[in-house]
Amino acid sequence: MYNIFFLLVILFVSTSSAATDTLQQTFSLSVENPNDTLVSSNRDFSAGFFQVGDNAFCFSVWFTRSKQPTVIWIANRDAPVNGKSSKLSLLRNGNLVLIDAARTLIWATATLSSSQLHLKLTNNGNLVLAAATSQPTVVWQSFNSPTDTLLPGQPVTEQASLVSSRSTTNFSSGFYKFYFDNDNVLRLLYKGPNLSSVYWPAPWKLAIDQGRSTYNVTKIAVLDSFGSFTSSDGFHFLSVDYPRKIYRRLKIDPDGNLRVYSFNEEEKNWEVSWQVIPEPCAVHGICGANSMCTVDPFLGRTCFCLQGFKVKNPNDWSQGCEPEFNSDFSCNRKESMGFLHLPTTELFGYDLNVTRVSSLEECQNLCLDLCDGCRGVQFKFNEVSTYNCYPKTMLLNGRDTPNFDGEVYLKLPKAILNSKKPIKHSTMKCSIGLSQRLNRIYHMPARNSTLSFLVWFTCGIGVFEVSIIFLVWFFLFRTNKQPGTIGHQQRHLLSATGFQRYTYAELKTATKGFKEKIGRGAGGVVYKGTLTDERVAAIKRLNEANQGEADFLAEISTIGMLNHMNLIDMWGYCVEGKHRLLVYEYMENGSLANNLVANNRLDWNKRFNVALGTAKGLAYLHEECLEWILHCDVKPQNILLDSDFSPKVADFGLSKLLNRDEERGSSGFSRIRGTRGYMAPEWVYNFRITSKVDVYSYGVVVLEMVSGRSPMEIQSLENSSGIEQRRLVTWITDKIKSAPSSGFWIEEIVDNNLEGRYDVSQVEVLVKVALQCVQDDMNQRPSMSHVVEMLQSHQNKTTPR
Ligand SMILES: *[C@@H]1O[C@H](CO)[C@@H](O)[C@H](O)[C@H]1NC(C)=O
Ligand SMILES: *[C@@H]1O[C@H](CO)[C@@H](O)[C@H](O)[C@H]1NC(C)=O
Ligand SMILES: *[C@@H]1O[C@H](CO)[C@@H](O)[C@H](O)[C@H]1NC(C)=O
Ligand SMILES: *[C@@H]1O[C@H](CO)[C@@H](O)[C@H](O)[C@H]1NC(C)=O
Ligand SMILES: *[C@@H]1O[C@H](CO)[C@@H](O)[C@H](O)[C@H]1NC(C)=O
Repeated sequence: MYNIFFLLVILFVSTSSAATDTLQQTFSLSVENPNDTLVSSNRDFSAGFFQVGDNAFCFSVWFTRSKQPTVIWIANRDAPVNGKSSKLSLLRNGNLVLIDAARTLIWATATLSSSQLHLKLTNNGNLVLAAATSQPTVVWQSFNSPTDTLLPGQPVTEQASLVSSRSTTNFSSGFYKFYFDNDNVLRLLYKGPNLSSVYWPAPWKLAIDQGRSTYNVTKIAVLDSFGSFTSSDGFHFLSVDYPRKIYRRLKIDPDGNLRVYSFNEEEKNWEVSWQVIPEPCAVHGICGANSMCTVDPFLGRTCFCLQGFKVKNPNDWSQGCEPEFNSDFSCNRKESMGFLHLPTTELFGYDLNVTRVSSLEECQNLCLDLCDGCRGVQFKFNEVSTYNCYPKTMLLNGRDTPNFDGEVYLKLPKAILNSKKPIKHSTMKCSIGLSQRLNRIYHMPARNSTLSFLVWFTCGIGVFEVSIIFLVWFFLFRTNKQPGTIGHQQRHLLSATGFQRYTYAELKTATKGFKEKIGRGAGGVVYKGTLTDERVAAIKRLNEANQGEADFLAEISTIGMLNHMNLIDMWGYCVEGKHRLLVYEYMENGSLANNLVANNRLDWNKRFNVALGTAKGLAYLHEECLEWILHCDVKPQNILLDSDFSPKVADFGLSKLLNRDEERGSSGFSRIRGTRGYMAPEWVYNFRITSKVDVYSYGVVVLEMVSGRSPMEIQSLENSSGIEQRRLVTWITDKIKSAPSSGFWIEEIVDNNLEGRYDVSQVEVLVKVALQCVQDDMNQRPSMSHVVEMLQSHQNKTTPR
């Protein structure tokens, strides 16, 4: 008993709980006390135990100013520790150790020092172990062993590379790496369980031809807080918001792309300000063997199997597809093999060698003769009227590229070739999903417990301490055998995605029984409500509940991940029985449509800023965020205005939620979406639907804002019928053409409600950009980010955003 008493005294003494930035020698941070964190003196960073799963914690550094803590660094990403009894201790000998409930050493800095050390979290997010002498000497620092994130000033070096997480919720080491290669060049590598390949810089070109030097052995690359990145191999970039001095981070995301995120102080969230790979399918390793990657405008990046193959694991497309046929490619079955032509396909790498041939037949025979060693060929015209033939040993890195200058022929049994089964697209589940329950539970073997207790009892105090912790923990564990009920899982999902699940009753109370109707959007009626925390919300009740709960949650979580100051914020949702509700922030000033009708509420400055902000929101949806989303119904009713008349795009990402049971045709969509007057011609003529449909609708909205005339109004005035919807555009282009000089048409088309108060050069650029956006040929329309660039250069420097 005396021993236990002594132990308790030690435990008590060695637990610090005040918010400080420094941990002294012989002290510990315990997983059980949420207050056991180091907080940098500017309060922007914290270091402590971060929950990564059910009862699973990692010792991490996170940024505290964002709405959700942003994990910057993790000590033990691949070995989370138990939520009981684990602790991080700075030992007397200078070693910083992380020990878990079973007394195993999980992680250590492996430092030894005879002088007094302390661990300090600095104001720039670096965790530094240094001697507490007058001249602090750094013994170890977290900046030298990054996880997947670099902070400004933190270098990538030969030893310090970035490795992505498995997924947005699983922080374990993933498959993508940003590193200095042996030839001194900075690269991105996919390193899967069985395969690895470099995908940036373009592996088919020499580094030197891509502006990289292979001679500087220094190997160092740094991002600064202004958004400029420089590397010793000559690679350099500036983020779009350069040179604003703000919080930034460079991160290799779980999807293999490298991005710079800038911190938005007003919204308290991160926005992408640079990314290295513009084309999502150019990242290797996404779809695995025998499959193809393609970008679907609604679902984002998708995989499908090549003809004759079926998916191995629909939840992990990186495992690829396996043959549906007898996969015996041996020489005695040579006669039964044929080839399938894939005209716009690229299968990068895994060529056996290259042979010059004079015909396709010769190339195919080469492949047939290689038997099991050849799964298909790539065939390419050579300058001197011969062809290059590349036999493929494996079919990997497949993607759809209309402008690829080679053709692929797959080797398949003739029986399969004749069956003419269409290629089926399957959706890749790249949703963040519900988090898995991670069990770090240590079962004490029952038959040994008494014995080991006795053994420990006779040992010294150090061991005793741990055994008591273990027993206490064991007791607690037994009384709380199932810590991971649905509730826990749910909460984890929430903390990962940042929004809340409400019960139907809560939302019914919030809206006083769905009384105050404030609008009707795609698929449902919107009500005003006040949540229990007093926030005013817009609550949308979706009409049909023909969707399973898991699917609904997966899609909702995708929408919940989108964060941009020009996109409406989703706070939560409700899914209960047949009820499906979405909870959004409430916008004081209603929609752009209301404000264009109500006289004089939108002066010129506000109109220009609405045009710019809406473009930014759409550009983010199209290009910058992790999922690629088309809006498909851009119109003034879907652009909401906050108290400062800043625009926020609403009703995005819902197309999947609302059109669940519609069959999708080969071009993707079989039904026209959108609103008459704002619809791009592609919908009508059944062309391929791309992000350019939103660009078109945006152009119409801008023309409407400038002229104050709705495209519908002009249609009815001029008594037009049918699908013809270019009246507003034609009206404006006619005015421009018939005007003697540029000054004249402006006066004629600008909304009379503005009473002559507008900036001529801004009107000019808006109309010019809008007319580019509404071109019939979608390839002639600019991208949304290009629109942002064009408008930004005309923004008044004094205008608020
Ligand atoms: C953590 O700190 C807060 C405020 O300082 C205090 O109210 C709370 O009791 C502390 N919790 C524990 C477990 O020490
Ligand atoms: C190598 O790169 C470093 C860091 O960018 C630079 O300071 C140095 O001058 C370079 N050395 C040579 C020989 O180019
Ligand atoms: C990796 O290769 C092994 C042996 O060939 C195979 O069993 C395993 O399924 C492969 N894993 C993946 C993810 O393809
Ligand atoms: C390509 O490799 C195959 C198999 O190793 C060999 O038979 C053939 O001669 C090679 N072709 C060339 C052009 O090297
Ligand atoms: C994270 O991924 C790793 C590797 O696939 C897996 O072993 C682990 O269980 C996952 N953790 C969670 C919390 O899902």
